[in-house]
Amino acid sequence: MSKTIIISNRLPLQIKIEEDEISVSQSVGGLATGMKSVHEDGDSLWIGWSGLTEEEITDTTRDKVQKEIEKNKCAMVPLSEDDVDHFYYGFSNKTLWPLFHYFMEYTTFEQENWESYKRVNQKFADVVLDHVEDGDTIWVHDYQLLLLPNYIKQKKPDTNIGFFLHIPFPSYEVFRTFPWREEVLEGMLGADLIGFHTYDYERHFLSCVRRLIHLETNFNEISYDDRIIKVDSFPMGIDYDKFYNAALAHENMNGDEKSDIQKRLDEHLYSSDDAKMILSIDRLDYTKGIPNRIKAFEYFLEKYPEYQQKVRLIMLAVPSRSNVPQYQLLKRETDELVGRINGKFSTVSWTPVWYFYRSLPFDNLIDLYTSCDVAMITPIRDGMNLVAKEYVATRVKQDGVLVLSEMAGASKEMNEALLINPNNFEAIADKLKQALEMPKEEQKERITSMQARLKRYSVEKWAEEFFTALNTSKTVRNTIVSK
Ligand code: ADP
Ligand code: F6P
Repeated sequence: MSKTIIISNRLPLQIKIEEDEISVSQSVGGLATGMKSVHEDGDSLWIGWSGLTEEEITDTTRDKVQKEIEKNKCAMVPLSEDDVDHFYYGFSNKTLWPLFHYFMEYTTFEQENWESYKRVNQKFADVVLDHVEDGDTIWVHDYQLLLLPNYIKQKKPDTNIGFFLHIPFPSYEVFRTFPWREEVLEGMLGADLIGFHTYDYERHFLSCVRRLIHLETNFNEISYDDRIIKVDSFPMGIDYDKFYNAALAHENMNGDEKSDIQKRLDEHLYSSDDAKMILSIDRLDYTKGIPNRIKAFEYFLEKYPEYQQKVRLIMLAVPSRSNVPQYQLLKRETDELVGRINGKFSTVSWTPVWYFYRSLPFDNLIDLYTSCDVAMITPIRDGMNLVAKEYVATRVKQDGVLVLSEMAGASKEMNEALLINPNNFEAIADKLKQALEMPKEEQKERITSMQARLKRYSVEKWAEEFFTALNTSKTVRNTIVSK
């Protein structure tokens, strides 16, 4: 029976080894959480990196790791320390990530990292080729694997390959600065269908294909040798029912079942009639606009002092890519800014910012989503941002307000949010006030229409539409070849 092969840099599970014992946790990030439900429900194999380097896996632990991987319907790509340094931290996260998010000043172009990127993409291809059978469908994900579609297509020309980019595709003016631009475009063009979150990313890609490798494009189709490659936008959804049902169960929880975090949140909520909580959740990443958010909140407390002691920002930052210097600097800057604002405004009974720098279990995420009156999501640039969607899905009483950056892909589908430019503190402060004072009726109207859309366009639907388009693109190719 044919299967789907999902390939991403990280597997949905992260394995750690301590004193010959292995522990397993869930991967954090939009790709892993989104694709997890697709993987669990279907007949699929997920190929990727376990989070462990080859040097970390000993003879005693190899079997245990392997069993855990297989139990989760996965296969592992072995990465060495050197691969992790040059491919993952190096090329993926010091070159592609900042460049594609328009942080050109953070982007480095190192030949050694590029060589490693090519080598590791080839390693992924080798594992895929070991597992692929006739009739299988391949779905490659994200910026760490831009060369992989072509590596597979070269060896298995008849296999149907989809590629989806989870981050923005930058405009031509930015992409043209990239030294290996032609190779990367050709790598992606190994796929039969190339998907993006938004129409803007799609048209940037098409423009680069036209202007840099001079291929003919016809609306959203590219002619390449004897193939027609389809390009389209598929805004990724969430597992709506999972979040909605978890929030419903949370509503019916009694006092004894409450987590410590929930009890602390309750303390603030019940401290006065008009106490409010504002939430932000992200990986600690410079694209997420964390310093801007804290500064804008500080400005808000200065501009509207009546809100001091009434409102609290709950900020969850999940550690991420902490070997990259820019992330270490961001951690320091965030700590300092939180210290500054808390030092400036705190009273005996109130601190304006509660800052958690750690990963929390799913139940605690639900505690946070359901307890906060406002979600304040202010990325400088973000491919999609699933947190915004998850917040809305958990508002089972149809209340709450989403303040969202227009630079997040999600803003294209969430017009009922209060949209802001993350660099405009004046506007953020005013929208925050509007959010905190929004009448319940208006909250309900906005949340209800966003929920209806999120429920309709769930992650399952997203995957289904991608697969349907991929199967159609195969038909197009067969027709051309048989002519
Ligand atoms: P990105 O992909 O850039 O990290 P997104 O907002 O699109 O950003 O996705 C973040 C995902 O990670 C969301 O699905 C969110 O639920 C999940 N997440 C955030 N914090 C945690 C956590 N502590 N534990 C598990 N998942 C988390
Ligand atoms: O969504 C963007 C993304 O880079 C995903 O590819 C990844 O799962 C997530 O963010 C987390 O990043 P990392 O795998 O580098 O921890």
